[in-house]
Amino acid sequence: MNLNIAVLPGDGIGPEIVDQAKKVVLAVGEKFDHKITLKYGLVGAIAINKTGVPLPIETLELCKSSDAVLFGAIGDPKYDNDPKAKVRPEQGLLAMRKELGLYANVRPVTIIPSLADKSPLKKEIVNGVDLVMIRELTGGIYFGRPQGRSEDGKTAYDSCVYSRFEVERIVRLACEIAMKRSGRITVVDKANVLATSRLWRETAMDISKEFHGLKMDFMFVDNAAMQLIQNPGRFDVIVTENMFGDILSDEASVITGSLGLLPSASVGLLTSVFEPIHGSYPQAAGKNIANPLATILSAAMMFEMAFNLKGEGKAIRVAVEKSIEAGVMTEDLKKEKPSLTSEVGDFVSNYISHKK
Ligand code: IPM
Ligand code: MN
Repeated sequence: MNLNIAVLPGDGIGPEIVDQAKKVVLAVGEKFDHKITLKYGLVGAIAINKTGVPLPIETLELCKSSDAVLFGAIGDPKYDNDPKAKVRPEQGLLAMRKELGLYANVRPVTIIPSLADKSPLKKEIVNGVDLVMIRELTGGIYFGRPQGRSEDGKTAYDSCVYSRFEVERIVRLACEIAMKRSGRITVVDKANVLATSRLWRETAMDISKEFHGLKMDFMFVDNAAMQLIQNPGRFDVIVTENMFGDILSDEASVITGSLGLLPSASVGLLTSVFEPIHGSYPQAAGKNIANPLATILSAAMMFEMAFNLKGEGKAIRVAVEKSIEAGVMTEDLKKEKPSLTSEVGDFVSNYISHKK
């Protein structure tokens, strides 16, 4: 197959982890006989520095013309403590979501048994956790209008807005994913308080009728936050709106104890974006110490979801397991004699290349 991939390394550790995923993607291409074309684009703080805007039009065009986008991270601490900054790296990410119609963020959260002791929760609570968090990504309070300040500057407002159409498409996608798993799905909302949540609940109930054998339940977001800590094993597929999903997906990710291992896919109308969930980790930038596995596993999701190439995705997953088994791990997973970012990338890509 011809596979055209846009590569957006972004900020912080983005470039070095994406470099490792690139080695892996090229090894898979060689091994499985695909013609892979990688084209690079700027996004985030680095794009602001070089062009003045966080998402240059060239980058957007590049994404639109690609079969998939491999994304590193964005963010720079210099913007975080400056609430008055007019341009921010995050605007690049939000604009990309909106422009590419990336309406669903899919985050699998799986415990790797040999790493269960890294979890901040007790082993017996996290053992066997294998859930998927599906977050709506282009609606709700992130994009609702009006948003702003009153004239005297003393009042501020954001609007949470959802249309039935927006809820239908994400719930339908989530139900499809649930049907390929255990057939169970939990819709998380705040229907006891919010009008948008009541629309979500009503719409989700209607959509569930399209899926024979599906078991849908509903949970308020505050309770879900608690259940994720007390009994994460009760969840299989969770679907929720943009801001609840932002918060709960971070919560769900840390219970594995290894943020550096968690990939994500943002499924879009025009293309899909694959990225690690951990962000730009500026303290580690340029040190060759960050864990590249979340980005490498995002590349596995790319083969599986964007190209429907399951064998290729599996080859990456097996190579990642082997690197963990062999103890080739970065310092977040291994205190004594950790490997470097590039060494993990080399191990995984070499494993794929040399496996008969
Ligand atoms: C995420 C991030 C973004 C979000 C930020 C960087 C805008 O936290 O992808 O979860 O809030 O969606
Ligand atoms: Mn977030």
